[in-house]
Amino acid sequence: MENDTLDLDLLQVPEPFAIREWATERGILILAHSYQDGFLQEAAHFVGDSLELARKAAAANAKSICFCGVHFMAETAKLLSPSARVFVPDMDAGCSLADSCKADDLKKYQHHLTEKLGKRPTTVAYVNCSAAVKALCDIICTSGNAREVVESIPENQPILFVPDKHLGGWLNETLGREMILWNGACEVHELFSIETLNEMKAQHPDAKVMSHPECPKPIRDASDYVLGTAGMLRLVKESNNQTFIVGTEANMIYRFEKEAPQNTYIPAPGASCACNLCPYMQMNTPEKLWKALHEQGPEVDVPAELFDDAQRSLLRMLEIV
Ligand code: 13P
Ligand code: SF4
Repeated sequence: MENDTLDLDLLQVPEPFAIREWATERGILILAHSYQDGFLQEAAHFVGDSLELARKAAAANAKSICFCGVHFMAETAKLLSPSARVFVPDMDAGCSLADSCKADDLKKYQHHLTEKLGKRPTTVAYVNCSAAVKALCDIICTSGNAREVVESIPENQPILFVPDKHLGGWLNETLGREMILWNGACEVHELFSIETLNEMKAQHPDAKVMSHPECPKPIRDASDYVLGTAGMLRLVKESNNQTFIVGTEANMIYRFEKEAPQNTYIPAPGASCACNLCPYMQMNTPEKLWKALHEQGPEVDVPAELFDDAQRSLLRMLEIV
């Protein structure tokens, strides 16, 4: 590795396109979630939602993957691209939703439900969870394929859905299911305020509201569209001169403005601030990306005893959609 004797803190970070080229020359694939800030999105070879990034990691055949997102996403990339060295700009970039479901608690609850129901429920996990939780589940879903994944399970089979109670609630409502829901939530989407959203709707009567299914029910009910981030992007690209109030992480608007500049985007208001940024995604910075690329670390790994089971649940998802 070049430059590893230099103090990288003293080096100026190049422009995003130069970072991308630098990585390309060294066989490093940079993946970024759409919630990353504009600089990181521009530096990446590929920007996407959780499902697109999982697919990209599976198909990439890359020697090294630098994942700009949060920890569970990098773990997913490792599970789907086992021979690649997967590393991140900041190892502490976690996720409140993933943290709300600990593997030990899930194991106990699965046991309790099996006794109570007289049969083992199928556990469906939203991808926002640790590899240890994935290893305990039957199948994974993302916001982009959750409906198809749940619909693939026979109606008479009890389902435990973890960890997001809002996504699970939305699936129950729209698919007419009665899945048992884990009591987890995303701290970013949970903070949207219905009072200020209603005020904003009154100020912009022609605007359409889109919200992520991680939002609580009052926000979803006040929305014209409930969509994952890839679904939102498709919608805005197909729209013309439309104003959208956006009920998801505010960096998403960078992508919308780049790929569908014909529309106007207004971030939906949080309870105590004008925008909603994920504090974990924000931990990744241009400086940390540049340093991580030089060091090819910190590296993300999945313990060997979890690997096959966690990978199996992800591969089941990819077989369906
Ligand atoms: P999607 O990218 O799947 O829409 O999910 C967003 C998310 O919650 C990332 O934390
Ligand atoms: Fe987790 Fe919410 Fe941040 Fe997504 S936006 S990474 S669910 S805390």
